[in-house]
Formats: sequence, C-alpha cells, structure tokens
Amino acid sequence: MDCGTLRKRLHISVDPDEILITNGSQQTLDLLARIFIDEGDPILIETPGYLGAIQAFSQYMPVFHAIPLEQDGPDISCLCQVLEKTDPKFLYTIPNSQNPSGITYSTERRREISSLLKEHDTLLLEDDAYGEIRFSGARRPSFRNLLAGDQTILLGSFSKIVAPGFRLGWLCAPGEIIDKAITAKQASDLHTNIFAQHVLARYLERIDMDSRISSINRAYAEKCSLMLECMDRLFPEGIGYTRPDGGCSSGSHSLKGSLPWNSGGVLWRRMGLSFPELHFTRTEEETAASG
Ligand SMILES: Cc1ncc(COP(=O)(O)O)c(C=O)c1O
Repeated sequence: MDCGTLRKRLHISVDPDEILITNGSQQTLDLLARIFIDEGDPILIETPGYLGAIQAFSQYMPVFHAIPLEQDGPDISCLCQVLEKTDPKFLYTIPNSQNPSGITYSTERRREISSLLKEHDTLLLEDDAYGEIRFSGARRPSFRNLLAGDQTILLGSFSKIVAPGFRLGWLCAPGEIIDKAITAKQASDLHTNIFAQHVLARYLERIDMDSRISSINRAYAEKCSLMLECMDRLFPEGIGYTRPDGGCSSGSHSLKGSLPWNSGGVLWRRMGLSFPELHFTRTEEETAASG
C-alpha cells in the first residue's frame, strides 16, 4: 500500500516512513503485542473480540479488560469506567465490520471514543481488515483522522481485497513505533517476502482497484443477503443478529441480553447440529488463559 493510495482510498495523510509491510495483519498484531505488552499489563479489547488478536496478545500475558459491543460500537460508559480505573497500554478495535459481531461503529460513537481516549491519553489500535468490504452506507471516518497521528496505529491487509495467500499487510504508525516494529520483525523473519511484494505491486499498478473492490463487494453482498434470508427463516424468537453493512461476519445474541454474542451456534442448534460451546471470542479470566 503506497501513501498515495492510502490518501485516496482511506482519506488519511501518511508519510512513507510511517508504513511497514508485514506478513498480513496477523503478524502486525504479534509485533504490536511484542512491543507494547509486558506480563500483567492491562489492555482493552472489544467483547466479542477477534480470536486472532486474542491469541496474539495472550502470548504476552496481558490482563484483558473486555468492553462490550453495542449495535453502534463499544459501550461508552463501560469504556469510561475502565479508563478511570486502569491505565491500559492500548484499546484494540475493529471499527469497520467487526469480526465476529459484524457491527460497524457509528461516526458519533467514534467521536465519543476519541474524546475519551484524548482525555486519558490512551493509544488506539485500529484494525481495518474489512474497511474496503462495504456493501451499504458510506465509509465512516478513520480514528487516524479523529485522534492525533501519534495516538493511533492503523493496521491493514491485502488478504480481503487481493488474496489471503499473499500474506501481505501493512502497519501505519508513528516513526518511533515503526522503528521498534522493524526490530521486532527482524528478530522474527528479517523481512516480508520480496517476491510476493513485487508481484502484488505489479498487480496493483495494472488493475483498476475501484472496480475490483466493487466486484468483491457485489459478491459479498450477495452471500450476505442469502445468509440473512436463512437467519430470518431459521432463527428462533428472541434472538437478534447483526445485519452487516460490510465485512464477512454477523454475530447473534439474545434480545433479552441474557445470552452473550455468539457466532453461528444458534443456527447450528436450530438445524439439529451439535455446537461446541467454545468461548473463543471472549476474554473472561477463566477462558483467556486457554485461548
Ligand atoms: C479483524 C482481523 N484482523 C486481522 C486478520 C488477519 O488477516 P491477515 O490475513 O491480513 O493476516 C483477520 C483475519 O481474518 C481479521 O478478521
């Protein structure tokens, strides 16, 4: 991803020395965990949270503080209470089409989060794996535009818009964090595969990215509408689920609030299939240790 493309597609302004190409955003999560987390450090994460992030962060043994997701973003009063009590290393978010709930934070909620984080001087990690996969509604502002550049770290990936097999992603962060990430990356794999980067660079030069992304979005929209049609038909009363406006997840939950978010389990049971009760998207103390 070059800086001109980031400026044009994400409407953010970036210098080349604020970018590091990684082996997919999963590697970026590991590098950031390595840089920021020491055993026992508090970190904030959405619940339900992205399994891959929980795995990456868990290796460095932080104390997770889970911020529940509502339909338009993290619960602000909970975030406020946690920030009053702890001084976390960062808040990890997926504001666009969150994995696994499928929700997209509203612009209003992004502004509320930004003003709280400014007040507490807390760093935000914005994982934008699904920002380009959008089939309805306009793109919402990136936290990079709502917070100062040194208070946000943005992660992106080519997995969802080109091919996951390339294992190419990018980190956009202040220069001093990029320097630390380069040192951490050298220890792990020296650098990202140069051949794959050349192939991807030639590909990006030659194709019309707007029309490629439109065609991906049409395909995802079609699958999403089929999935929602099945859920509308098969889900029992009292179960709500996200009608996603992008990405590839939809989480379900009890409308009475007694059941946590759950991806897929209700549908499985309704179809007579057994469903293993895995708490893999949650970070409560007893489940975080076992992943
Ligand atoms: C929210 C989120 N972040 C990061 C990743 C990792 O993606 P990549 O293939 O770029 O490593 C995924 C993969 O599904 C994801 O859902």
